[in-house]
Amino acid sequence: MRIDVVTLFPELFDAPLRTSLLGRAVAAGVVDVRVHDLRLYGLGRHRVVDDAPYGGGAGMVLRPEPVFAAVEALDAPEAHVVLLSPRGRRLVQRRCEALAAMAHLVLVCGRYEGVDERVALGLADEELSIGDYVLAGGEVAALVVIEAVTRLLPGVVGNPGSVRTESHAGGLLEHPHYTRPAEFRGMRVPDVLLSGDHEAIARWRAEQARRTTERRRPDLLQGDAGP
Ligand code: ADE
Repeated sequence: MRIDVVTLFPELFDAPLRTSLLGRAVAAGVVDVRVHDLRLYGLGRHRVVDDAPYGGGAGMVLRPEPVFAAVEALDAPEAHVVLLSPRGRRLVQRRCEALAAMAHLVLVCGRYEGVDERVALGLADEELSIGDYVLAGGEVAALVVIEAVTRLLPGVVGNPGSVRTESHAGGLLEHPHYTRPAEFRGMRVPDVLLSGDHEAIARWRAEQARRTTERRRPDLLQGDAGP
């Protein structure tokens, strides 16, 4: 899979793309991530990328020309272009699975107070938000997309079973996990997990997943967490 990122802050991606699971997937060539500096496509001698909003108001807005130029320079009309912005549809696991099935993603990171709407209208295939809060820009959101998608690619997570059973994979939060010691500061591991009875353990885990989801995230049971 290939992922191109268009950003004003390419250096933000250095450490995350070299570390842990993402670093290993990049080193193994499972995912080819290329980060492009939007400033190189800025206008004029000063490489201007933003301007004041038409109609007035606070802050600056990213102009459309540099963003279009940066994406068009990739010469990949088949790529799926995603604009990261707090105005996008909320990203959920099911969408990550769909994105992981794509051969080529382009992630455009918004900055400043906003991005000229013509980027969403004429360039992006979809606009995604990673949650109902506002970040300084789309970079951290793009990293969230890269990590959530990459770990779904074949061979990235050592045990494919853990990707299938984890929280959100089946529309529920995951059951709790325990490891040694069997008792820690007065808190005991539930007996069933020490019983060796695999059917009873599976039943207990399913019940815990249902109960935890009911208590913490009833919206998931209603199926209204988005596509
Ligand atoms: N840029 C700023 N806030 C964002 C969010 N919540 N999701 C995606 N991109 C963003």
